[in-house]
Amino acid sequence: MPIAMQPVQSADFLARRADLRETAVERGPRSDALELAAGELLLRVDRFAFTANNVTYAVFGDAMSYWTFFPSHGGWGRVPVWGFADLERSACPGLEPGERIYGYLPMSTHLRVRPDRVTAKGFVDASAHRAKLPPVYNQYTRVSAEPRDREDAQMLFRPLFATAFLIDDFLAESAFFGAGRVLVSSASSKTSLALAFLLARNRGGSVRVVGLTSTRNRAFVERAGCYDEVASYDAIGALPAHEPAVFVDVAGDGPVRAQVHERFGERLAYSCLVGVTHWEERGAAQELAGPKPAFFFAPDRIRKRAAEWGPGGLDARLEESWKPFAEAAARWIEVVHRSGPDAVRDAYLEVLAGRTPPDRAYVLSLHQP
Ligand SMILES: NC(=O)c1ccc[n+]([C@@H]2O[C@H](COP(=O)([O-])OP(=O)(O)OC[C@H]3O[C@@H](n4cnc5c(N)ncnc54)[C@H](OP(=O)(O)O)[C@@H]3O)[C@@H](O)[C@H]2O)c1
Repeated sequence: MPIAMQPVQSADFLARRADLRETAVERGPRSDALELAAGELLLRVDRFAFTANNVTYAVFGDAMSYWTFFPSHGGWGRVPVWGFADLERSACPGLEPGERIYGYLPMSTHLRVRPDRVTAKGFVDASAHRAKLPPVYNQYTRVSAEPRDREDAQMLFRPLFATAFLIDDFLAESAFFGAGRVLVSSASSKTSLALAFLLARNRGGSVRVVGLTSTRNRAFVERAGCYDEVASYDAIGALPAHEPAVFVDVAGDGPVRAQVHERFGERLAYSCLVGVTHWEERGAAQELAGPKPAFFFAPDRIRKRAAEWGPGGLDARLEESWKPFAEAAARWIEVVHRSGPDAVRDAYLEVLAGRTPPDRAYVLSLHQP
């Protein structure tokens, strides 16, 4: 058995569902004592990305069932992350220990899954508690050994890049609702950067992309160079607003949204809510000038395009622009690796509080270094 696969003590990183700032690490049995039923695999979670996207999973843990993926107990939740795992033990014929797996994981050392629809490319976790959840999160990929830096890009950027791809695709399909400008909030987030990158690449200058960001992150967004214009939130009232615009709201900030709607009014051709990076500023629903914001949910759009484009159709299209985006992202963002329970807690609390500079991104492991 390779040294990396010797049994280790299992552990879960937990967040208090009612107060995400409260965390705990719960130790479990040694991994060779974790029970495995027939048909199950024990995955050893190796490394995972942690960004505002994962905070949003926790913020909507109850409302959108994100706590259901990896159940916990007593008011605690296991926050979902994207990452890589090694197959430690198998009670499922055809899947052998040592395989590397990519997919949706808990902030834990281990995860039990029940593979179904196994192919050379991957499998679906058919565990009963996940049956009603969006299929994209239940899909696991069998990966051959990738260079570490490519793994980092995959877990940090790929799910967010895929979301941005689907927004670009949706807006283009809707002819940008007749608008020639796209306003994107939380312009410094990876999702927004990917969207600006794709709009510039795919729409040949037919729309102008305006990045809205906080004052402290403005210089970073300008340096990235993928928006046509950059404005800080306090300058929304001075944006030129005589032409129709679309608003892609990644910040989910109530006062920012109200200002954008107020400034553009009926000239806001469409407004969609993608994220809530400013999760503490969501505010109560309120009367807004202009259109009612529509929720954009990537898994719904994946379902639609998968049906229309057939198996592999979405992946093939994603692949065309993935490599240039990953290269650009590597220039903008430094990946920071941290291991062990204390380091995971510190990074979690930093990202939760929005203190992580936009040019840094965490890849974490709960295992002791
Ligand atoms: N609807 C969907 O299907 C879907 C799919 C994927 C992602 N998303 C959402 O897209 C959003 C972006 O995720 P990401 O991982 O790309 O983000 P990220 O790269 O971690 O974003 C970091 C940026 O978000 C803002 N921010 C983060 N935390 C903050 C806080 N506590 N207070 C104030 N500002 C904060 C800051 O940007 P600014 O200063 O520029 O505001 C910061 O630079 C998330 O809400 C995620 O859930 C939605």
